[in-house]
Amino acid sequence: MIPQDRIPRHVAIIMDGNGRWARKRGLPRYYGHKVGVESVREAIRTAIDFGIEYLTLYAFSRENWKRPGKEVEMIMSIFRQVLTREVAKLHREGVKIVVMGRLQDLSSDLRKRVDEAMELTKANSRLNLYLAISYGGRTEIMDAAKKMARLAAEGKLRLDELNEEDFRNFLYHPELPDPDLLIRTSGELRVSNFLLWQIAYTELYVTETLWPDFRREEFVKALEDYASRERRFGGVKAS
Ligand code: FPP
Repeated sequence: MIPQDRIPRHVAIIMDGNGRWARKRGLPRYYGHKVGVESVREAIRTAIDFGIEYLTLYAFSRENWKRPGKEVEMIMSIFRQVLTREVAKLHREGVKIVVMGRLQDLSSDLRKRVDEAMELTKANSRLNLYLAISYGGRTEIMDAAKKMARLAAEGKLRLDELNEEDFRNFLYHPELPDPDLLIRTSGELRVSNFLLWQIAYTELYVTETLWPDFRREEFVKALEDYASRERRFGGVKAS
């Protein structure tokens, strides 16, 4: 049992390794993504069961558009299916869905489903599920800086009075608290342009497990590991 005060409020996950999972089995990459959806379902279920308030999943980076057209199409079609078939169930379970990133990059069809899912679930509060799609951390910071510069040029913002919390208000979702725990699957020791502003003091957990194999038991292992850590936020250890 993990004490409730040791449960992270916000868990962010870099879901990596779908392609390798499929290759190891001699299957096309597509199957890795398909099976990865089951891991997404289990992650949502586990987050609800443990009382995690915010779960952010890195589903597609801005850099991922550089993948072969066929693979991009398949991933987009999976998002479309999930947003069509699963939203009603998630809504019943009290999940609020927020898609974050450059939504203008998405096809109008997918964009429509994203808007509908967000509208339908906007009043839910059991779990806040953020799906990062066409997301890039540097782009988010650049977009914030541009918005600020525009306001400053119009004389509506005094730059020398700004602090870090004011800056946060220009990010895509200022209401999203910083992640307490960032999980990355498939062993890579990188943050890959994910939530760069928000992870300044986040605890990192990397597992060799590939995303399609990352199920409840693996998630619980990450939570147990997090619960055993002493967070200091740059200060000294509390005694
Ligand atoms: C990472 O594996 C996976 C992706 C970039 C694809 C997106 C995730 C899914 C389709 C799972 C379902 C998600 C949602 C939100 C329903 P990779 O292809 O980078 O694997 P590799 O590093 O082994 O090539």
